[in-house]
Amino acid sequence: MADYQTFDHDVLVIGAGGAGLRAAIEAAGAGVSVGLVCKSLLGKAHTVMAEGGMAAAIGNVDDRDNWKVHFTDTLRGGQYVNNWRMAELHAKEAPDRVKELEAWGALFDRTKDGRILQRNFGGHRYPRLAHVGDRTGLEMIRTLQDHGIHQGIDVHMEVTVTTLLKRGDRVCGALAYDRQQGQFRLFRAKAIVLATGGVGRAYQITSNSWEYSGDGQALAYEAGAALMDMEFIQFHPTGMVWPPSVRGILVTEGVRGEGGVLLNNRGERFMFGDIPDNYKAQTADNPEEGWRYTQGDKNARRPPELLTRDHVARCIVREVREGRGSPHGGVFLDIQWIKEKLPNAAEHIRKKLPSMYHQFKQLADIDITKQPMEIGPTTHYIMGGIRVDGDSQMSNVPGLYAAGESAAGLHGANRLGGNSLSDLLVFGKRAGEYAARFAKDNPAVAPDAGEVNERITEALAPLERKNGESPYRIQQDLQTMMQDLVGIVRQEDEMVRAAEGLAKLKERATRVSAAGNRQYNPGWHTAIDLKNLLTVSEAVILSAIARKESRGGHFRDDYPEKKPEFGGHNHLINRAADGSMKLVAQPIPPMPDELKRIVEEMK
Ligand code: FUM
Repeated sequence: MADYQTFDHDVLVIGAGGAGLRAAIEAAGAGVSVGLVCKSLLGKAHTVMAEGGMAAAIGNVDDRDNWKVHFTDTLRGGQYVNNWRMAELHAKEAPDRVKELEAWGALFDRTKDGRILQRNFGGHRYPRLAHVGDRTGLEMIRTLQDHGIHQGIDVHMEVTVTTLLKRGDRVCGALAYDRQQGQFRLFRAKAIVLATGGVGRAYQITSNSWEYSGDGQALAYEAGAALMDMEFIQFHPTGMVWPPSVRGILVTEGVRGEGGVLLNNRGERFMFGDIPDNYKAQTADNPEEGWRYTQGDKNARRPPELLTRDHVARCIVREVREGRGSPHGGVFLDIQWIKEKLPNAAEHIRKKLPSMYHQFKQLADIDITKQPMEIGPTTHYIMGGIRVDGDSQMSNVPGLYAAGESAAGLHGANRLGGNSLSDLLVFGKRAGEYAARFAKDNPAVAPDAGEVNERITEALAPLERKNGESPYRIQQDLQTMMQDLVGIVRQEDEMVRAAEGLAKLKERATRVSAAGNRQYNPGWHTAIDLKNLLTVSEAVILSAIARKESRGGHFRDDYPEKKPEFGGHNHLINRAADGSMKLVAQPIPPMPDELKRIVEEMK
């Protein structure tokens, strides 16, 4: 019999970023007992990497904004493969969630008359991002933690979940281990919410920290939940490129929202040369108008630097490939130029972008009030994930919910910046509410003790095995392969090579071994994470090969156009009875006439 501690909760929330915290608060408020598991320390979540703001059509800066415009911007950004119900709920409910966060203590930047200030971001028609300088995600986490601490939630820090447990169709618990002592924990729960974030660690260059190994997506898949649209990965256009040790760290889109421009090594604003037809009417064709837009001129059109992230990232790649890049393989992002326009530019930059100022000063010895930054695309976010019901956030496994980045649907093929923080609040709340309801309506079911023992033995296998493969080496090989063969610009032969490479990596992973004991052993932890990384990477490759067109975050050199036949369905990934991964195309349910009319009107 393996040794483990047992914990009972009505609702278990796995992941303690914005979505997990918001779900836990909601479930606890509904009167059920809640456990919150976080892989690292509470407060350390990718949520803090959404720096520039949370999108909500409050209309404080431009009163033409409303939920309908936000809804259609989100669909257009997502290239119409979004779950339209989620896009509707998100646009309608985001303003209330932002105001609620303010009531819980979030200190947003203010307009001159004291209301929540909103800034411009790519793809949003009006200034829509409620923000706290360039630390909005951090303020959100701080506020949710401060509020959540009073809700009687049991927090389990530095705990990694290895398996979801089921009885029949229903989820009934999770097996985990604590990173410090390496002891196993059995969580028995009536309902589980997955809010584990993204898959960034499958790539070499990423804004994600070590925790983001696709745990929720892989756990759900193993438990029989469908994954959806895993090919849609967002490469944020602006990550640091130099020095090498900080490559990939995010440089907020807020820099461009405040007037920052992108330049190649000839000093050209190359984005002016590539404005997509469907955005021409909204996009400035001269620098002066673009500047006026960033300064709040309602009659001006947005600068091309604020086109959607997928497009901007591809334009940067093109500049680099064609020899117009910066010395370290990126391009330049320049905010210091605004001194031509504002007498107090340096002070203004330090006030609006304090983290960026310190980040570049401390990590790259660059003063962004005086020098341009060197930036390039970084793997930031996955639009695909666990398929959920739009209203309840439940997956196809009864009792298993997902919210935030681990869930799919809201963002379609490409997420608009700022829509993630509001996503976390809107759907974190919904997942918590529905999970609590499920827990009230269904009795507890005991996990199978035999299965628990088996899973523990499986998790310990890398420690038992001697002289096997290094988990770090396999992880590194996977990251290089995904970066090179399934990155921003894709093509069939490269992805087929990636599929073959993945099969070999999976085979090597069966021989993985970790030296040392169970107490804080990063090699062992990496060996366990590896399984999830391989699962989500396989899903990304399979879906990307199947989508023979370019749409949003998925761009193919061999099929550079969008194809109508791919616009009507999502890609679902399921685990077949023989354990292999299967992909099916699932038609997107028809949009109600009322929403169709809104889309037409907004065009
Ligand atoms: O650029 C940013 O501040 C990131 C925001 C987001 O991903 O939503």
